[in-house]
Amino acid sequence: MKTRIINLEQNNINIEALYEAAVILKNGGLVAFPTETVYGLGANALSQTAVEGIFKAKGRPADNPLIVHIADIKELNSIAVNIPTDALKLASAFWPGPLTMVLPKAQGIPQIVTAGLPTVAVRLPAHPIARRLIELAGVPVAAPSANISGRPSPTVAAHVIEDLTDRVDIIIDGGNAQVGLESTVIDLSCEPPIILRPGGITYAQIKEIIPSVINDISDKPTNNEAPKSPGMKYKHYAPKAKLYVFEGEQDKVIAEIKKRVIQAQAVGLKAGVLAHTDTVAQYNAHYVYNYGKDKKELAANLFLALREFDNNNVNIIFSEPVEDGGIGTAIKNRLYKAAAYNIIRL
Ligand code: TXA
Ligand code: MG
Repeated sequence: MKTRIINLEQNNINIEALYEAAVILKNGGLVAFPTETVYGLGANALSQTAVEGIFKAKGRPADNPLIVHIADIKELNSIAVNIPTDALKLASAFWPGPLTMVLPKAQGIPQIVTAGLPTVAVRLPAHPIARRLIELAGVPVAAPSANISGRPSPTVAAHVIEDLTDRVDIIIDGGNAQVGLESTVIDLSCEPPIILRPGGITYAQIKEIIPSVINDISDKPTNNEAPKSPGMKYKHYAPKAKLYVFEGEQDKVIAEIKKRVIQAQAVGLKAGVLAHTDTVAQYNAHYVYNYGKDKKELAANLFLALREFDNNNVNIIFSEPVEDGGIGTAIKNRLYKAAAYNIIRL
């Protein structure tokens, strides 16, 4: 299949162009589109064949369920049943936005979307292009992140193009995804509700609305425990190079990374360093990525950075630590996964 690329401005959307994409989406095609978290690969959630196309295009394992995206809270009743009051409270606090809720599934949602689970994940995104696209398609849209399975989620259209050219019908280029990390996933089908994936909406923000909420995110999942969210068991967000994260006092971290860069280069490896803005000048390596000065910037830049290391043929990456708390929890979660939990405490 030949992929068409459509350029749209989020503040001045060419509705005719978007409508064309929406019709293709509704009729079973695959359309990649920007959201405020990361780019999504959308298909008509009511069509089993369309959704099969997502799994094929991404090389996604069939036991990993998808998030259903809606454009209006009114549509929630056709996606989920037995919706608890807590879900409605969260929706009014954080929708549209980077929060996904897992709820008991309504009959009309095909099994393939939920990988056979009795629950369904739902999100109402804030990005104007995403919302108008879903609205114009007139159907709920199943959409995982628009990357080949196992690669970092795309935060710019160029990365979608890199992964999915000629595997999907349309790629909508709508600029950078603002948050840069995927949505927070919370399971509301159980009591108390559990956060399954940290993201743009923090644990503290959710706890203000639902005091009983549990944070189920440990740094490293134990092997004998069945993952509550199927996606959590897969190695995600991995760059091609081996990545190490160093934790400890700043001076020690800098000294250790410098030493490791020299050692790596001595054996002919191309070393990469992931550093904060205020320490970036300390390093001299094949590729040093300045990933920002505050957590918001780090979140927006992490996946970009991982892709850039690949594109610059880096063989080994050394990263400074990320401070926990707020969106730091989500950044750390993604960084540690990308590092396959190679964390070196100094
Ligand atoms: O920000 C986002 O959430 C992006 C944009 C495109 O909306 N989407 C995204 O989708 O990150 P994906 O497929 O890459 O991640 C969805 C996660 C997976 O970890 C999946 O296992 C989990 O949500 N999930 C989906 N349905 C579930 C369910 N019924 N129960 C538990 N976990 C579920
Ligand atoms: Mg994904």
